[in-house]
Amino acid sequence: MKKNYFFYSNKKCFIDHNGIVSSKSHSNLALIKYWGKHNHKIQIPLNSSISYSLGKVYTVTRLIYKRKKKKNSSIKIFFSGKEKTSFLPKILEFFHRISFYCSYLRDFNFIIETYNTFPHSSGIASSASSMSALALCVMKIEKKLVSSLKKDLFLKKASFLARLGSGSACRSIYSGLVVWGCHPSIKGSNNLYAIPYPYEVHSIFTKIANTILIIDDEPKKILSSKGHQLMNNHPYARERFKCANKNMNRLISILKIGDFQEFGELIEHEALTLHAMIMTSRPYFLWMKPNTLNVIHTVWDFRKHSNKNIYFTLDAGANVHLLYPIQEKTSIIKWIYSDLFSYCKKIIESFCY
Ligand code: DP6
Repeated sequence: MKKNYFFYSNKKCFIDHNGIVSSKSHSNLALIKYWGKHNHKIQIPLNSSISYSLGKVYTVTRLIYKRKKKKNSSIKIFFSGKEKTSFLPKILEFFHRISFYCSYLRDFNFIIETYNTFPHSSGIASSASSMSALALCVMKIEKKLVSSLKKDLFLKKASFLARLGSGSACRSIYSGLVVWGCHPSIKGSNNLYAIPYPYEVHSIFTKIANTILIIDDEPKKILSSKGHQLMNNHPYARERFKCANKNMNRLISILKIGDFQEFGELIEHEALTLHAMIMTSRPYFLWMKPNTLNVIHTVWDFRKHSNKNIYFTLDAGANVHLLYPIQEKTSIIKWIYSDLFSYCKKIIESFCY
């Protein structure tokens, strides 16, 4: 790919002085986790990752742009109707990074109005869906300037921009299974933007049930961006990256043949490896809470006795995502409410697609 592939260079086009664009983006759940990035601000991952889109869990964003009258820039952000100055530093940094590729942004002031369909402080990371929705809004402005912009390039550049806001956000541009990060077995995979998973997927994996158990709804004590940095001098980092690459190869064949048990064992292994990395970093952290472990052990016992395909994965926190075949939802969800509810603050019923 040429170095300047994503630059905006169309200096002759103008758009209205004021306007509004809006977009919606789903959150995503990584099966093979992105954990570790190169030690600079351009968000290049140290291993490839793959995620599912999360049904019902999304962000809606309106971006209002007004042509600047003075040189100074202004950005305001409203979350669920209330101004949120605490979100500004991340948004300003995002605009700063992407204005290099979208020079027209420098001509406008912005008001961002956004909301999530999932409760704020529910422990579900919103940076992926919010940065992705914002990147799509920016690309809608670019589309007004360059009407010939093709859908394929529109989405690639949206993913490229979203990555500069938050790594995992680049996967939220597409629905379904999405890969980010260069992997020798995945054609078209690269570090700059995500791509839809390009290979055959068994029908059992086209839509699977996802129940999110909120065990801790406090803001995270250690942010993902800090956690990624800790991989840079981590004694087990090389092995982790090798393992992630091997897991990707295994997952490609699992997705094709439709083996749910192998799938489940692989995602549990990935989740525990992610947590092992944070537990053995310097400084070390522990994201799991006693109820995270209670849930995991109860799921393992239930699986042993019932032979049901129910598995967990974890993000950078204490909450648990349970994944199981959608066909078994009626009986499994009943069991979740009867046997796991007491360990949680909240249960969110979603699905992966
Ligand atoms: C554990 O994308 O939140 O959820 O790039 O610093 O914004 P930044 O990190 P972020 O990291 C996500 C980490 C993860 C795994 C994953 O989603 O792949």
